[in-house]
Amino acid sequence: MAILVTGGAGYIGSHTCVELLNAGYDVVVYDNLANSSEKSLARVEALTGKKVTFYRGDILDRARLEEVFAKEDLECCIHFAGLKAVGESVQKPWEYYENNISGTLTLVDVMRKHNCKNIIFSSSATVYGDPAEIPITENCPKGQCTNPYGWTKSMLEQILTDIQKADPEWNVILLRYFNPIGAHQSGTMGENPNGIPNNLMPYITQVAVGKLQELGVFGNDYDTPDGTGVRDYIHVVDLAVGHVKALKKISEKAGLCIYNLGTGHGYSVLDIVKNFEAANDIQIPYSIKPRRAGDIATCYCDPSKAKEELGWEAAYGIREMCADSWRWQKNNPNGYED
Ligand code: NAD
Ligand code: UFG
Repeated sequence: MAILVTGGAGYIGSHTCVELLNAGYDVVVYDNLANSSEKSLARVEALTGKKVTFYRGDILDRARLEEVFAKEDLECCIHFAGLKAVGESVQKPWEYYENNISGTLTLVDVMRKHNCKNIIFSSSATVYGDPAEIPITENCPKGQCTNPYGWTKSMLEQILTDIQKADPEWNVILLRYFNPIGAHQSGTMGENPNGIPNNLMPYITQVAVGKLQELGVFGNDYDTPDGTGVRDYIHVVDLAVGHVKALKKISEKAGLCIYNLGTGHGYSVLDIVKNFEAANDIQIPYSIKPRRAGDIATCYCDPSKAKEELGWEAAYGIREMCADSWRWQKNNPNGYED
């Protein structure tokens, strides 16, 4: 029996493949490489000394999915595949709904036809909207998303919830990630964004490596200790380990479960800059810019449910996140393209 990892060549998926292989699982990756490189999987194999079975394919392609399910003995799907650029989703809503929602509906339909009814879904803190409580627990009501990407996550949570309710043979774990950053400690795997990064950490590392001139800090007049936005940054390896723990839970017939995956600590944009500078002995020039549309002031979670029910908690702190992000960027200035 093997685990199907859709989107497994991507940032979080590739780190999860390492942890799955190290934990003894067989891994089948299904990815159309729309936002990734197959080279990440070669790095996974080099790090673990184990083989990844790779199928290039789209989650919208039913025939290709059928072929994979007919060939492989799959017990569970960890479903990372999706488009994730917030700004792009505002420009191309149809493409985001089509890819993320139709793609997931197709995947789930093929899964149930092959009697594989276990799915771990990559959701996001974005489903809380402007959160009604801080720290955010899983009981916090979902909110209004500010972009189509966020809505795809919110809607897919609802769709998977309804499917599980209608057919209790399904086990569905919704993992709400906070802000994944960092990279594998080896410096051989990490985030590889196309073009100018939208997210804070890849922007900082590209300033550090000299590709970008200075960081723009989006607003310093929020109601936070230093006025800049506060987030719950989590090391991508901790996040990956969270999926291995979720797999164990799903094998115990979990039904429907929802977990926040974060550290429970909030750091401001300027905290991140200072920690990056201190961890790596490098200066990050920055200037204050206007607020970015759709941003909220503060977002961090209470991760105690995942600790109690999955036996999972984040092991790495902010300095390690900063050091590992930089090691990856420094060793691979062009990502996987070198
Ligand atoms: P990523 O872009 O690196 O990985 C996603 C992978 O899915 C890519 O390899 C891409 O090629 C693949 N993919 C996209 N559409 C596909 C399709 N139609 N068929 C097959 N493969 C397809 O992103 P990531 O940061 O690793 O994110 C993984 C998942 O976690 C995504 O669903 C994302 O929305 C979610 N998530 C990410 C964050 C974050 O900040 N990185 C936060 C919360 C949730
Ligand atoms: N920021 C800057 N300058 C930049 C980039 C970001 O000041 O160049 C600030 C933002 O304003 C925010 C913080 O840094 O205060 C974090 O921003 P990111 O873009 O890195 O992350 P977000 O919290 O906006 O969103 C991320 C993902 C979403 C996901 C969310 C919660 O992009 O997809 O985390 O998981 F939904």
